Amino acid sequence: MKIDVFTLFPEAFEWFEGQRHVRNAFGSGLGFACVNYRDTTPLTGGQVDDTPFGGGAGMVLRVDVVAAALEARYRVDPQHLPHRRRVLALTPGGRVLDDAFVDELAAEPELTVLCGRYEGFDERIIEHFASDAVSIGRYVLAGGELAAMVVCDAVIRKLPGALGHAESAWEESFSAALEGAPEYPHYTRPAEYRGWRVPEVLLSGHHANIKEWRLEQSRARANQGPQP
Ligand code: ADE
Repeated sequence: MKIDVFTLFPEAFEWFEGQRHVRNAFGSGLGFACVNYRDTTPLTGGQVDDTPFGGGAGMVLRVDVVAAALEARYRVDPQHLPHRRRVLALTPGGRVLDDAFVDELAAEPELTVLCGRYEGFDERIIEHFASDAVSIGRYVLAGGELAAMVVCDAVIRKLPGALGHAESAWEESFSAALEGAPEYPHYTRPAEYRGWRVPEVLLSGHHANIKEWRLEQSRARANQGPQP
């Protein structure tokens, strides 16, 4: 998979690119590039945003600036881009990311991720250049960079070779293997701490019983709703 992230703060992704699962994925063919909107802005003085028509607080990322950045990168009219590859515009009001959406994105050969800033995007960017408006939750961040890292992290850890064990992304929270339920509880040594015992079944070595217990726990959590 090839991922391009468009941002005003490419340096914000240096930490992310150094993470082990991301480096593992690089070794298995992942391409990850950050593109700075400012590098190709057609405006003077590196300007990329402007005040909103109709008034109001904050600044809005300009449509001509994003168009120039996309055109410079892909050498096509950015209006045609969403027909060729998934272009995600990160915005709090978009489709909320969940495990099924992540699976969908992880199956793509190429992703373009557009980070907004300040008050976000000129709406024409979302309407004409993006295939999807994506939200990581119904709250507002100061910019799209953290949201982009969340999306990329969730997608990249699904790619073959990203995680140590091929199984690790298979039987985890919200996966089909667990019927879409949250994951069962995990325990490690010591088997007893302050009188708190690890469930006996996990110490039994009886794999079929352990599997059944875990599935029951997942189902119970699904019926319980969010954990404290
Ligand atoms: N940009 C600002 N807030 C966001 C959110 N919650 N999800 C995606 N992008 C955002």
